[in-house]
Amino acid sequence: MLFDSGVGGLTILRELRQLVPKVPIIYAADLMGLPYGEKSEAQIAARVASLLGRLNERYTPCLACIACNTASTIALEAVREVLEIPIVGTVPAIKPASSITKTGKIGLLGTRATIRQAYVDNLEKQFAQQKKLIRYAAPELVEAAENKVRGLANNRLVFANALAGLFEQSGGKDIDTIVLACTHFPLLERELRQETDREMTFVHGGAGIARRIVQLLDPKLLEKTGSDTLVV
Ligand code: DGL
Repeated sequence: MLFDSGVGGLTILRELRQLVPKVPIIYAADLMGLPYGEKSEAQIAARVASLLGRLNERYTPCLACIACNTASTIALEAVREVLEIPIVGTVPAIKPASSITKTGKIGLLGTRATIRQAYVDNLEKQFAQQKKLIRYAAPELVEAAENKVRGLANNRLVFANALAGLFEQSGGKDIDTIVLACTHFPLLERELRQETDREMTFVHGGAGIARRIVQLLDPKLLEKTGSDTLVV
């Protein structure tokens, strides 16, 4: 089962589908709770733990992936304590970004809630100690991704502003790698790329998360077929 506040988890789903084309997947989107990034830590933790608890009882998945950086950086540990199935989280890809950057300046775009998390401070300390991590909250990109998936137009300024939010900070003009630290944002990579002339690498954890999910699945399950379930 994949869980997100909205369409962001589709960026994990598309990577997962490359590896397991047929396994039945439950995709749960908490559209009533969207956007998570504008909520408090307490609200997110309570909501995610209770929703996942209920989804688990109702659909009995063999594994759940919190396909959302905001929910994972806040509630992953709490959810792991209450559910007995393996829980895979989605956390900002600072480690790979750190090995990719040549300038040592890494940008990070996330939700307002994600960028203030101690979880992100710890990833920075662990993997980007010698680099400069420049964070910027871009909640408008969440809405833009939701629009895009529904076929609605977006104003290009939204993408330019998100990049300007990084580039205009101290050290920002040297950023060569940007962590897309919200699962909605890889849906907008092309639009973001169009707004900069610089050589830029966009990094997200989708492929690695999909590999992790498959590793944790019982190999017998990989042969299973059936229809997918959408819960909104
Ligand atoms: N997709 C979620 C994430 O990865 C955030 C979207 C929201 O604000 O609900 O952080």
